[in-house]
Amino acid sequence: MTAPSDIDGIRAAFQTDLAAVASEPDLQAVRDRYLGRKRGAVAALMKQVAGAPPEARPALGKGANVLKREIEHALDERRKALRMAARPAGAVDVTLPGRAAPFGRRHPLTLIREQVESIFESWGFEILQGPQVEDDYHNFEALNMPPDHPARDMQDTFYLDGSMPGEGAPATLLRTHTSGMQIRYMERHEPPVRIIAPGLVYRRDTPDLTHSPMFMQVEGLMVDEGITMADLKGTLVGFLKAFFDPGTRVMFRPSFFPYTEPSAEVFISCVFCGGGGCAVCKQTGWLEILGCGMVHPAVFEAVGYDAERYTGWAFGLGIDRVALLKYRVEDIRLFYDNDLRLLEQFPH
Ligand code: DAH
Repeated sequence: MTAPSDIDGIRAAFQTDLAAVASEPDLQAVRDRYLGRKRGAVAALMKQVAGAPPEARPALGKGANVLKREIEHALDERRKALRMAARPAGAVDVTLPGRAAPFGRRHPLTLIREQVESIFESWGFEILQGPQVEDDYHNFEALNMPPDHPARDMQDTFYLDGSMPGEGAPATLLRTHTSGMQIRYMERHEPPVRIIAPGLVYRRDTPDLTHSPMFMQVEGLMVDEGITMADLKGTLVGFLKAFFDPGTRVMFRPSFFPYTEPSAEVFISCVFCGGGGCAVCKQTGWLEILGCGMVHPAVFEAVGYDAERYTGWAFGLGIDRVALLKYRVEDIRLFYDNDLRLLEQFPH
């Protein structure tokens, strides 16, 4: 079990290690030790958070995330200091006027992804990444979309190497959504499952204000005994209020996805007009934000879970979509142009 003292212990150990850093390789070693994705102390801490009793989790998750950010910041500062100190004497003409150093920044989509991750991390969810080149099985078939399923038409697909479904060899494609990560994870793990999987996805869409052939989603999945639609609602309402604003109103409307039953589309009260009606929400007062539902028994069957024993929920959220709303950018294509005039408007 994670006690606050574990967090304090890691913090104290980190400070001791940081104080001993004398070079960039030292710094890298300390970074690996604490922030390494697999074996870092912070990653281990996140695992403990996931295993803590539910009532203790929010506070521990928050403490762990604060520590992570502190460590990141301290490492960045130390690196800057090392680089300053490493300049040879005389290399700088101190009489020259200063030139502002162009600092890199996080991309707006990265900022949004990190915000989503940190909310779910604080609830003990594990964060996964998976392949963008996917096979037909994980992208479609195991999600209850056999080769002739009409729902496949909704997702115009980039097939690779001329491979097409129904032409002998299994098709390979650029994944059209992150939902295949549900399958990839469940194939290798037994319940309970609590994951989110962010990443790029691809569709043969003509670019316009709201479409880009490459965009970003985050998938969520929770499976255990006794999971109900109330868990789905509670989690998503909690997430949307934390991500946007505590006053945000959330509406669930019945929908259809082959891999969930029942399925829902989730709307939030318009972030621009507050629900009164404007051009962005097309006078409805609502913005569609994600798709979700209770995992279909056929999906459990595909991964060998006992559908009599387990239930679960899943959702898919468009990161670009929420970035457009949160940062009030009007054209999705701007996120992929990498024009510094846009990127410089976001925090470091
Ligand atoms: N995969 C869907 C899409 O790309 C989004 C989605 C809907 C994901 C419902 C889910 C879900 O996990 O349950 O539009």
